[in-house]
Amino acid sequence: MQTIRMDMTAGVDPEEIRQAGEVLRRGGLVAFPTETVYGLGGNAFDPEASRRIYAAKGRPSDNPLIVHIARMEDLPRAAREVPEAALRLAEAFWPGPLTMILPRGDEVPKETTGGLDTVAIRMPDHPVALALIEAGGGFVAAPSANTSGRPSPTRADHVWEDLQGRIDVLIDGGEVPIGLESTIVDLTEETPVILRPGYISQAMLGEVLGTVSYDRGLTSEDPSVHPRAPGMKYRHYAPKAPLTIVEGSPEEVVRCISRLADEEARSGGCAGIIAGDDTAGQYGSGLVRSIGSRTQEITIAHHLYAILREFDDLGVSVIYSEAFDTPQLGRAIMNRLLKAAGHQVLQA
Ligand code: TXA
Ligand code: MG
Repeated sequence: MQTIRMDMTAGVDPEEIRQAGEVLRRGGLVAFPTETVYGLGGNAFDPEASRRIYAAKGRPSDNPLIVHIARMEDLPRAAREVPEAALRLAEAFWPGPLTMILPRGDEVPKETTGGLDTVAIRMPDHPVALALIEAGGGFVAAPSANTSGRPSPTRADHVWEDLQGRIDVLIDGGEVPIGLESTIVDLTEETPVILRPGYISQAMLGEVLGTVSYDRGLTSEDPSVHPRAPGMKYRHYAPKAPLTIVEGSPEEVVRCISRLADEEARSGGCAGIIAGDDTAGQYGSGLVRSIGSRTQEITIAHHLYAILREFDDLGVSVIYSEAFDTPQLGRAIMNRLLKAAGHQVLQA
């Protein structure tokens, strides 16, 4: 299959969006930008399209997809029940980086929800995504547009690397603004539960809903406590080289990582180092990448996946990362980093 690439970095092209929407209506696959990461879209009501999404990504088919909508009026078609809490969250955060788990609407086939009787729904905050969803019929199932196991794509070139020749269309919308996947909140239980941390924090959700809890499976050391979002159990976002997170005071961390990078060089390898803007200049060896500023947390979220991909391309033999427990986005950033590291953490 030849993948058609459409350039919408300067904005929505109505004629090309119409064509891409046509591809979705016929059951084809279109990768597109959102404000979080690039998505791999197919018609959410078409079981064949969902099967194609799983095949293109090499994703296990028990891992459900998120249904993307563009208009509030469409929510009751995707969800069987829309509780008051969902309406309040939509009012506060949609369009935006929040996914809600609700009872599955009858029109959503089980192929899209990985066999579950609940469905993940979100309205993305990106003009290209919204225009495409409308053109494609209103309901677009879309996981992140990476090959299963690779970091999520934050640029069209990342999608191209992973999925070229396996999808019908790739729409280039430039770099995405956030760079981490949406927050997922489950509204099907008594108390709302965060299943995946993201840009919308527990505190932000709490302001709208009151009590919001955090899935124990995300933080538990006990391997028998599984995360409730099926996708969170996989070792996602994995770079090719083993990644270790080093914690401690900034001075200790720099000293520890420098020593490890020296050792790696002496044994013929090359360490990739993920550092904050403040410390990046202090390393003597290794390939250092500055991820962003701890005082502007969004810059860290924005660069994380691109740096992991870059280290794959450069073929480093190990990766060491500083920890980024920043106040607002720290939980989301560390969740992704810990998963990429397979939870390997070293105290400096
Ligand atoms: O920001 C995002 O959410 C991006 C963009 C493209 O919108 N999409 C994304 O999709 O991250 P994906 O497929 O990579 O992650 C979806 C996550 C998975 O962990 C999946 O297990 C979980 O959502 N999920 C989907 N439906 C669910 C359900 N009914 N119950 C629990 N978890 C669900
Ligand atoms: Mg994903």
